[in-house]
Amino acid sequence: MATQDELKRMAAEKAVEFVPENEYIGIGTGSTVNFFIEALGKSGKKIKGAVSTSKESSALMAQYDIPEITLGDVTGLAVYVDGADEVNHMLQMIKGGGGAHLNEKIVASAADKFICIADESKYVSRLGKFPLPVEVIPHARSLVSRKLLAMGGQPELRVGFTTFNGNQIVDVHNFPIDRPVSMEDEINRITGVVENGIFGHEAADVLVLATAGGVKVLK
Ligand code: 5RP
Repeated sequence: MATQDELKRMAAEKAVEFVPENEYIGIGTGSTVNFFIEALGKSGKKIKGAVSTSKESSALMAQYDIPEITLGDVTGLAVYVDGADEVNHMLQMIKGGGGAHLNEKIVASAADKFICIADESKYVSRLGKFPLPVEVIPHARSLVSRKLLAMGGQPELRVGFTTFNGNQIVDVHNFPIDRPVSMEDEINRITGVVENGIFGHEAADVLVLATAGGVKVLK
């Protein structure tokens, strides 16, 4: 039986097929993406450059000679490849387990296609078992937390963690995401919220899902 890491690697390696040559792409963050960066580097596929979403991904890209560019250098990206904490059957996701969901959403929004790579443990019928990450302006944290509590969730500060943008993360537990798109908007409308980890508007176009029975490509 394949381990979770082996499944992540299988999905990541398959995703290289979705990367067109001579184009700009976006690269997400996390352990599944780390396998993707390695696979892309070793594939010999030539891309014009990649926008990274974290220091960790940038460091690994440099190790595999994948040229890094910034969003300001281009008008768009052919594909964006990233993992997820949960993905549902409509390919909507919860992201931000690594706290990089703001950058990830920005870069994903610049891409023509979002390719999500995941092992089967991430594939769910309803989002929300995974605590929802919400990036908040530090001095608004208590205010925002009270509003999230009123919405039915149990907010908990991610202790000792500061985002790339100098903000804090509140993880909202026991918070079923029944209406991903409207809940994404509702939470983002709370003053003091910078961005939440629901990817309803930025749902994936393709899910490369590694299962014990092999890799499936879902659209
Ligand atoms: C980071 C993310 C990651 O994509 C998500 O946490 C999945 O990570 P992993 O591939 O390590 O399971 O959203 O902000």
